Amino acid sequence: MAPISIQLDRISKRFDHTVKGEVYAVREVSLAVEQGELLTLLGPSGCGKSTTLRMIAGFEEPDEGTISIAGKDVTHVLPNRRGIGFVFQNYALFPHLSVFENVAYGLRVQGRDGPAIARAVGDVLELVGLAHYDRQQPHQLSGGEQQRVALARAVVFQPEVLLFDEPLSNLDAKLRVEMREQIRALQKRIGITTVYVTHDQEEAMAISDRIAVMDRGEIVQQGSADQLYYRPASEFVARFIGRTNILPGRVVSAAEIEIEGLRITLATGRATGETVQLVVRPEMIELGPSAGDPVEGRIAARTFLGEKTDYLVTLGGSTLQVSATDHYRRPPLDVGQPVGVRFHPEGLHVLA
Ligand SMILES: Nc1ncnc2c1ncn2[C@@H]1O[C@H](COP(=O)(O)OP(=O)(O)OP(=O)(O)O)[C@@H](O)[C@H]1O
Ligand SMILES: [Mg+2]
Repeated sequence: MAPISIQLDRISKRFDHTVKGEVYAVREVSLAVEQGELLTLLGPSGCGKSTTLRMIAGFEEPDEGTISIAGKDVTHVLPNRRGIGFVFQNYALFPHLSVFENVAYGLRVQGRDGPAIARAVGDVLELVGLAHYDRQQPHQLSGGEQQRVALARAVVFQPEVLLFDEPLSNLDAKLRVEMREQIRALQKRIGITTVYVTHDQEEAMAISDRIAVMDRGEIVQQGSADQLYYRPASEFVARFIGRTNILPGRVVSAAEIEIEGLRITLATGRATGETVQLVVRPEMIELGPSAGDPVEGRIAARTFLGEKTDYLVTLGGSTLQVSATDHYRRPPLDVGQPVGVRFHPEGLHVLA
């Protein structure tokens, strides 16, 4: 395992709320980010992502807990002494300065000499793919180019740590995908420890080594994208990462459960007769011709989306979301049609 670069130890932050009084924006958050790792804080609006990031940066001080970077306690260290580069949602470029001067600004403040500044700025503009843009003004750049200037400005100091707060939310959908790949490639190339904040689960899955899911000020689960997708710890995580069915299952024996009257071989480790909650992703359910099964489903809705077709299927008291990707070789199923429903036991996940 790589050494730990950022360590949060039970940090909390409270704010005064005009109606609710004092409320926790962040509550006892502990987190370790390895050197060179890209960790994403993911969660719904207001769950405390930005507050956590701002505490790492030093723009906010925690009410409790400690923060260390590269083994040094920085809880009470000023932001400009933490060796951190920060990229915000609004790029906050100086509108009247050229691209070169925007990136050079911080180095000038530090009193570096001209040739050193020219070299450093030239290198990072090259790194972000803006080698010949140095004399352009911000208003002459596209949104994606402006964001790359902001990125250049954050890395020109060669910081130990890079922090991103929703850096792509001002860009259109196609550019967002392009930019997240560029950020990821750059982060890997320079091997810099990064904490990235987004509320977009797809962006988080695409860009991260590891994701920490937050809910109401707390981290509720950490793991790789596929751990969170296949083994969510709670209904909240299951619903936040990808689409899902949450279905009641009855334990009928040590090795069998029943969902809406369908028997499935699955060892849950629970007592016979208990009801469990199952996480079943739409692509883990297979629909087929109804072979006069004692329990059959019925197609309630169908949406053709090209690479897949989404169905809503009623089965007993449940409505299932099902995705099928095989319509290039099989005719689609019609609304109202009875269907055989098959759950793949290897995909089923039992919630604690
Ligand atoms: N300066 C402040 N004063 C009072 N309350 C604040 C302050 N900053 C944040 N909060 C509150 O703390 C909570 C967490 O805010 P935070 O900005 O960290 O959320 P977030 O997860 O980044 O949300 P979003 O996705 O909308 O950016 C919110 O309820 C917010 O209203
Ligand atoms: Mg935020």
